[in-house]
Amino acid sequence: MAGDKRTPVTVIGLGSMGRALADAFIEAGHPTTVWNRTPGKAAPLVAKGAVRAKDVEAAVAASPLVITCLTTFEDTRRVLEPAAAALPGRALVTLNSGSPADARETDAWATGHGVRFLAGAVKNVPSAVGARDTLLYYSGDKTVFDEYETALRVLGGDTVHLGDETDLAALYEMAVGAMLLPALVGFFQGAAAVQARGLEVSSMVRFAGKWLDMIKSLLPVYATEIDRGDYTDAASSVNLFLAGEAHDEELAKETNVDIAWLAPLYDVVKRAAEAGHGDHSVAALTEVLRRPEQTA
Ligand SMILES: NC(=O)c1ccc[n+]([C@@H]2O[C@H](COP(=O)([O-])OP(=O)(O)OC[C@H]3O[C@@H](n4cnc5c(N)ncnc54)[C@H](OP(=O)(O)O)[C@@H]3O)[C@@H](O)[C@H]2O)c1
Repeated sequence: MAGDKRTPVTVIGLGSMGRALADAFIEAGHPTTVWNRTPGKAAPLVAKGAVRAKDVEAAVAASPLVITCLTTFEDTRRVLEPAAAALPGRALVTLNSGSPADARETDAWATGHGVRFLAGAVKNVPSAVGARDTLLYYSGDKTVFDEYETALRVLGGDTVHLGDETDLAALYEMAVGAMLLPALVGFFQGAAAVQARGLEVSSMVRFAGKWLDMIKSLLPVYATEIDRGDYTDAASSVNLFLAGEAHDEELAKETNVDIAWLAPLYDVVKRAAEAGHGDHSVAALTEVLRRPEQTA
């Protein structure tokens, strides 16, 4: 049977994301062992063919490829510690969020336990796991990535190895993820304003989507400006953004929507203008965000 050739995989941590990961492996025919602190969460996966390990050591011992999806790196280290005897020689792939420093600490921990370590990140929601364009990135031991790439691609077709430095996946995860909260709070502010007029929020979704498309189209332009440190070709200037503050305040008054979250953002815009970037491209805000002591 083709399934017999598939890499046995262990998934530790069966929260929303971990369950989706285990589900994808089961669907793809991988012999899948699962373990979770709260054992009941394994039940639907066991019903689909997964094996529930009696403890974390048995879970690690069951497969050459161990995927963890716990809340933090610290949780991961703590949960795996009792399985220390089973860890040497196995490939450990973490798929939790966390800082680059925490990824480096986990790398040192893994090295100390004889584990081959790849740190990964899922850049999507659980329901997208397994889809062709779902992005996951990995960094660290390339031999682990090469050996298990086929299995890892089961989780998402856009699977990327960023480099040998273990903390790169965490760095990119956080760098890209930084856009999420401001973008969503902006959408929620707009939603509240539209609702204040008695309109359905659904009515703005198409337009908000086009707005995000426009922002997406600008990212390569801004990235080039920032990489070159040249902001002089300003299609949208810092001063233009500064002028928007009064409009936001008027709308907030009219719709009774709290826009206090915008004040620190306008503070960045003001500081850029004060630093002489008023007529420069709005990408010059990066110069204000970069603390002086961190410049080369
Ligand atoms: N959900 C998403 O949309 C999403 C998207 C991208 C990335 N992620 C990342 O994926 C990771 C998991 O997220 P999730 O959504 O699956 O979270 P979740 O539903 O809250 O599940 C957390 C998992 O971690 C386990 N856990 C936490 N602390 C533990 C500890 N000290 N000891 C043992 N087990 C512990 C939980 O066990 P119990 O079941 O026993 O509580 C559960 O299995 C996070 O780092 C998250 O940032 C999530």
